[in-house]
Amino acid sequence: MAAVIKIFDTTLRDGEQSPGCSMNLQEKLEMAKQLERLRVDTIEAGFAAASPGDLLAIQAVAREIQDCQVASLARALTKDIDAAWEAVREAASPRIHTFIATSDIHMQYKLRKSPEQVLEQAVEMVKYAKKYCSDVQFSAEDATRSNPEFLYRVIEAVIKAGATVINIPDTVGYITPWEFTDLITNLFEKVPNIDQVDVAVHCHNDLGLAVANSLAAVGAGVNQIECTINGIGERAGNAALEEIVMGLVVRRDFYNVDTKIDTTQIYRTSRLLSSITGVTVQPNKAIVGANAFAHESGIHQHGVLANKSTYEIMTPASIGLAENKMVLGKHSGRHAFEDRLISLGYELTKEQLDTAFEQFKRLADKKKVVTDLDIEALVQQKTFNIPETYRLKRFVINSGSTITATATVYLETLEFPKEAVSTGDGPIDAAFKAIDQIVGIEFELDTFTINAVSEGKDAQGEVIVKIAKDGKLYTGRGLSTDIIESSIKAYLNAINKMLDELRYTKRIDADD
Ligand code: KIV
Ligand code: ZN
Repeated sequence: MAAVIKIFDTTLRDGEQSPGCSMNLQEKLEMAKQLERLRVDTIEAGFAAASPGDLLAIQAVAREIQDCQVASLARALTKDIDAAWEAVREAASPRIHTFIATSDIHMQYKLRKSPEQVLEQAVEMVKYAKKYCSDVQFSAEDATRSNPEFLYRVIEAVIKAGATVINIPDTVGYITPWEFTDLITNLFEKVPNIDQVDVAVHCHNDLGLAVANSLAAVGAGVNQIECTINGIGERAGNAALEEIVMGLVVRRDFYNVDTKIDTTQIYRTSRLLSSITGVTVQPNKAIVGANAFAHESGIHQHGVLANKSTYEIMTPASIGLAENKMVLGKHSGRHAFEDRLISLGYELTKEQLDTAFEQFKRLADKKKVVTDLDIEALVQQKTFNIPETYRLKRFVINSGSTITATATVYLETLEFPKEAVSTGDGPIDAAFKAIDQIVGIEFELDTFTINAVSEGKDAQGEVIVKIAKDGKLYTGRGLSTDIIESSIKAYLNAINKMLDELRYTKRIDADD
């Protein structure tokens, strides 16, 4: 029987801490539920000691998720391990993941400790974590630049102390697949108790080798891979889950291993992450990029028409990619809509379905052809339970090439409706300035992007807005066939998230 490689997803921890990818509690929860549908083995839900907000988000994930292990990261320090346990203790299957650096560079300049002190701290902290949790993962940070003999000594000692999973991170994306194969092979040979634990790798992509290194490690015998959706993560990112998993699936003849992943959930997971963070994937990104299954050249198109396998090594359906076909129109009923959602893999509550169906009807009125991509965009347009402090009621724009753009924006608020008028450098600027007058809080517009969800002149425009306040970014998303409306909605969505967090932070401060 083929070995099963465990997939440890760190999108919500290593991914989330990268620039522009931060998520609030509701968004993390939504993402975690999708990772559960994808059937990852472990969800690393965050770094509990980072802030009270991080701890609460991990707790929420731990309470909700039933079918995956939920892990929290902790430095090899008692206070971090206490926080990690507090965060995951209610999980169906909790894990504490503790780490300390083992390379000379990190020990000397970052930790200012001798190798012997690091070894002792690693052992003590694994024992400490073990008092709380039977499942303790230990990572030797910067393992690939560590002295291998010292690394093997630390690993042998932490296994004796009770570690159940040993992780070998390529923290700075430095190693080559050949060197990694040797390092892991030697690890299995030189650490006498290594057969008592799972062995994992965690690769960063600084030289573009994260996936190659992870797959090389599978060849050398590891049974857990750490990765993130869309490869998000520190600097150049982490190994991309979708590339590793599809690599193992498509070349099963070579690797001879399986995973538990439901690959038909890959595309949806990738889209959800992009829509939450506003960080889109490049069009030519392997597996989930917009062009990953597009055949442009005449020769390729001819081949694919004759037989798909000429240029396609996997099918779009295998990653759950819906064909962009006309599915429903304005005469379609609720039943047909629900059926289509189910076949796209979405199970909505009655309340969510009511909202989605109402939005679909409005869209079908404006747009002749409603595609699967439109429907997916609608469903992913949820507000993730963010209180809508401000909601767009209506707007009027007066703009043209020879006049100054003017916007009148009318918003519903939690108290009473408010209206403002502003001029601006174009209609969107004018509308944003009118909203700024109503909101009355200082913040900066950081990013504004617009993309068509599907093809055609009447395509829905998806706008992603990021606003910055006190060094934090808030991402908003808006969808409409009218790009000014989608811009206003995205702006308001980002503002509502910011206000929710400001209120929430005050609550935490008051509780402290
Ligand atoms: O890259 C790294 O070394 C890490 C560890 C904390 C696992 O993220
Ligand atoms: Zn990392």
